[in-house]
Amino acid sequence: MAVQFFDFGKLSDGRSVTAAKLTNHAGASLTVLDYGATVQALCIPDRSGKPVDVVLGYDSAVEYEKNGDYLGATIGRVGNRIGKSVFSLNGKTYELAKNDGENHLHGGKEGFDKKFWRMAAQGESLLCWRVSPDGEENYPGNLNVKVLFSLTDDNRFCITYDADTDADTLVNLTNHSYFNLNGRGDVLNHRLQLFAERFAENDGGCLPTGRLLPVEGTPFDFRTEKEIGTDIGADDEQLKRAGGYDHNYVLCGKKAAILYGPETGIEMTVETDLPGMQLYSGNFLTERKGKGGSIINRRDAACFETQLYPNAMNCYGFPSPVLRAGAHLHSETSYAFRVR
Ligand code: GLA
Repeated sequence: MAVQFFDFGKLSDGRSVTAAKLTNHAGASLTVLDYGATVQALCIPDRSGKPVDVVLGYDSAVEYEKNGDYLGATIGRVGNRIGKSVFSLNGKTYELAKNDGENHLHGGKEGFDKKFWRMAAQGESLLCWRVSPDGEENYPGNLNVKVLFSLTDDNRFCITYDADTDADTLVNLTNHSYFNLNGRGDVLNHRLQLFAERFAENDGGCLPTGRLLPVEGTPFDFRTEKEIGTDIGADDEQLKRAGGYDHNYVLCGKKAAILYGPETGIEMTVETDLPGMQLYSGNFLTERKGKGGSIINRRDAACFETQLYPNAMNCYGFPSPVLRAGAHLHSETSYAFRVR
């Protein structure tokens, strides 16, 4: 079906936000804002056929402006953390904004989540694009970024990322949707299978130390489906440091995770061509107003942020986030829904 555009209100400085809605033939829909190329709603039919909004979000543009937790946003130029907010590339040192303690998080003070993107229908998909100018948030190179959102008739929500640059730079793009397949309440009863044998050890500030630890025998082992809440309160140093799960998993292959919401019967399979995925159990979510008069609380959602490993420039052996001048980045992540 054709993409429909509508007015989503204004930011506090008067700039207008536009929303685009994609609807498929199975009764599912996806709404994306030009502000932050943000997934505002994703409605998937449950076991009775009733659409359930499976992502957290807000009803107004000003709430997205305050969106400190990046609900639904496209994250860049570099998602997740860069230790001490500094990196060296081609012999030059780049100082970045320290917006997470001493570290740099999710692209800086005004990352891609706080920028306006151009939007246009591309067939039945939605293309969002912008040029991140040389020096934006102190990253080198003019970076051309395109994010294509689609929703197929078999309820697969796909995001493809394309980028190129005119000077060597760092890129690690992701989407920060907060999923709750029950459409309400916390996600501790969601069943999760995660196809990873290792995860990145964090320091006290959720920054990977460079060590990859086996999940075997730890609360991080989701190789066999279990509830997110089963071990979240375990007496484990890594969990205690982050207040729950907030760790990068080393994926074994394309299939990253399967999540199941028991109340609706909705199951979501995450697939990606990226090597890592942050499992974040909404530990820092504080109480606030969500969509349609709902209240969002801590652990009311889980994020599956497909990515290159965080802090890669400072960790030997982690896949490089450097995008060379003239090179092209292409990456795909999909979230496929069905009822079981
Ligand atoms: C990511 C981080 C978390 C937190 C959230 C946003 O998932 O890993 O530590 O910063 O983003 O609140």
